[in-house]
Amino acid sequence: MFTLDAGDGLKLRAYTPDDAPVLFAAVDESRQFLSQWFPWVAANTTVEHSRRFIEEMCQKAEVQEELALGIFRGDTLVGSIGLHHWEHHLKRAQLGYWLSNHAEGKGYATRAVGCLVNFVFTNTDIRKLEIHYAAANVRSAGVAGRLGFHIEGVLRKSCIRNGIVDDLVITGVLREEWGRK
Ligand SMILES: CC(C)(COP(=O)(O)OP(=O)(O)OC[C@H]1O[C@@H](n2cnc3c(N)ncnc32)[C@H](O)[C@@H]1OP(=O)(O)O)[C@@H](O)C(=O)NCCC(=O)NCCS
Repeated sequence: MFTLDAGDGLKLRAYTPDDAPVLFAAVDESRQFLSQWFPWVAANTTVEHSRRFIEEMCQKAEVQEELALGIFRGDTLVGSIGLHHWEHHLKRAQLGYWLSNHAEGKGYATRAVGCLVNFVFTNTDIRKLEIHYAAANVRSAGVAGRLGFHIEGVLRKSCIRNGIVDDLVITGVLREEWGRK
């Protein structure tokens, strides 16, 4: 099974359909927290929804379109990370991530994102990775900033969080910049 070691007991592992109950439980437990930032949370109301998400992600991973990995500490799912909008002609993709609310503030997201960036730049031909976040999302800005993603611009009124339209901050890192870190 595809697994990356992010160090200190943290692992990124490809989901299997058997993970649907724990993935749903993690989303459900952090529903209020995650809903602030992700519109998809409101539509994820049953284990079956999580199973369908996993199956879809497995199919998309097969054709290198998207990748979704659970962030595990030991056997406990503490969050999720993904590679999205993989544009092969531009050799560019976007990263997304979330943690359970009890897993915040421990450095897990920064470690998980750093680990996936290392993997991508070492094992694929992707030459640019982006992180997009709502302007109000200071914790996500912290993850991108700690890892050296550059702010490239702000798309005004371009995302919705909790029903509020917000500006979208675009950050990115190039393969050669990451190598210099
Ligand atoms: C965005 C999100 C993943 C960031 O989580 P986070 O816990 O702030 O980020 P990290 O896991 O990297 O932890 C960093 C924090 O842990 C602290 N920390 C503790 N031990 C640490 C360690 N060993 N290494 C690094 N940081 C550590 C850092 O000081 C930092 O805290 P601070 O911001 O108060 O200074 C989380 O807030 C979340 O899931 N939000 C909801 C979903 C979301 O917004 N996703 C992103 C959409 S773009």
